[in-house]
Amino acid sequence: MNYAHWIRHFTVNRNHRPEPDWEAPFDIPEPKRAALAKSLAEYQLGDGGGECRLIGFDAEAARSVHPDAARVIDLWFREEAEHSRLLGCGLRRIGGIFLTTTFGFRLFNRIRRWFGAQFEMLVLLVVEIVSTGYYRVIQRHCGDAPIAAMCALILRDEAGHIVFHRDRLAAKDADYSRGWRALAIRVLGVGCTSFLWLSHGRWLRAIGGTLGEFRREIGLEMDAFVRSLHERRERHFRLVPIVAGK
Ligand SMILES: [Fe+2]
Ligand SMILES: [Fe+2]
Repeated sequence: MNYAHWIRHFTVNRNHRPEPDWEAPFDIPEPKRAALAKSLAEYQLGDGGGECRLIGFDAEAARSVHPDAARVIDLWFREEAEHSRLLGCGLRRIGGIFLTTTFGFRLFNRIRRWFGAQFEMLVLLVVEIVSTGYYRVIQRHCGDAPIAAMCALILRDEAGHIVFHRDRLAAKDADYSRGWRALAIRVLGVGCTSFLWLSHGRWLRAIGGTLGEFRREIGLEMDAFVRSLHERRERHFRLVPIVAGK
């Protein structure tokens, strides 16, 4: 894996990040504001809130596979922490209540600890793919320019994170796409999509989203990811789609 490339990517991606105008006039109808606040509060905790690092029982082994591995992993989590900060600003803007824990969050962290860092990173990748669907629905229906701008920033980062994982998996196993793990990603994706809709569906519906739209967005992202694994050409594993300032 080209660690220098990813260090550069995460460093460059810190630039040209226009902060959403959190003080802009606010005009969201109350039912929509309340639903958005509930949903963003959970995401603020889950996307970079809590322990923002690898927490699998063998995390140190994963961080030491290469002299630069720990740095790249830390840079990735630093962007996750930034997502939590942005979501916190959005939550304050709409008068939401911050959460410190939920049943789902505790369960998610337990699974990450028990099954080790490789599985943890696989699960986090799936969550990132599924979350792109969530942020696109929020961006489309929130009716608030600063929150839509926040979604755009997070989506930009998550696109890079997904390619980072594709690069990592491709470097690990040239036949990755043929193995059980490609299937596992899809199965985990279905499970994660269902869990997320069960948790957030009522709030996404309240702002105008639909299950069909949610599943379609996630399906497009998942198909693109799996297709890129199947293609298995160097250029798909080495190039970063993000250029800060675009
Ligand atoms: Fe994130
Ligand atoms: Fe991410």
